[in-house]
Amino acid sequence: RNEGYKNPNQKDFIVIGHRGASGYSPEHTIKSYELVNEQGADYIEIDLQMTKDRVLVAMHDRNVDRTTNGSGPVRSYSLNQLKDLDAGSWFNIYSPLYADRSFNGLEVPTLEEILAYFGTNVNYYIEIKNPDINPGMASMLLQLLEEHGLLQSDNQKSGKVIIQSFSEKALRQVHELNKEIPLIQLIQYEKASEITSLRLRGWRDYAIGVGVNYKIVNEKVVKKTHNANLLVHVYTVNDIVHMKGLVDLGVDGAFTNFSDLLKDVVENE
Ligand code: G3P
Ligand code: CA
Repeated sequence: RNEGYKNPNQKDFIVIGHRGASGYSPEHTIKSYELVNEQGADYIEIDLQMTKDRVLVAMHDRNVDRTTNGSGPVRSYSLNQLKDLDAGSWFNIYSPLYADRSFNGLEVPTLEEILAYFGTNVNYYIEIKNPDINPGMASMLLQLLEEHGLLQSDNQKSGKVIIQSFSEKALRQVHELNKEIPLIQLIQYEKASEITSLRLRGWRDYAIGVGVNYKIVNEKVVKKTHNANLLVHVYTVNDIVHMKGLVDLGVDGAFTNFSDLLKDVVENE
């Protein structure tokens, strides 16, 4: 178990590159992860989905429609079919301000490719998405982390990997398999009052913190969660005013599509 509510990499505040540098480039592409790493994010956030042939890939939505030129569920695609899709061009239409020709034709990366590419040079904040429709995700993830040297004790101690999920079941599965991996319970509550002491105690059994919508976070929530010895990470903060407010409130980290801006805020506080 971790001691107290220090971040796994020991920093007071962590900048989590939400889906990569997704404000500036097509989310969940190697290019976007490279960019967020250059921007100085402490963690690269990766959402996991599974293909028809049971390969873990980085994608936020269950369906490929929004972020590729294909349509339908990720689960209806084999990896080969998914690799034929263009996961970059959509961004140039969606965000003309940051459009770049080099985004055209980018591929959906597999988790394996990401881990092989960045190795132990970056920190990963990985989300197990939809474990109920994709059973086996947790153990497949741990196996890949192991194969890439990320579960060696020095890497675990320095917080190379954090695993997050809205699914308590998936997090408990991970915890059963490996008690050392720092886990974050994502919560979807819409009111601060729903974060009760009873729930906090329950999460503390297996998690080191909660990931919560920044809109419901106030001083009381931060205090209560810290008193339960849990970290507060907030999603998804994209404007400087809220970034400053949340850093001042004492939250321990934030997901953002604009890691460069959040980094500036944190360094100038
Ligand atoms: O994982 C926390 C944050 O990413 C919010 O959820 O929907 O963007 O995966 P989502
Ligand atoms: Ca996520």
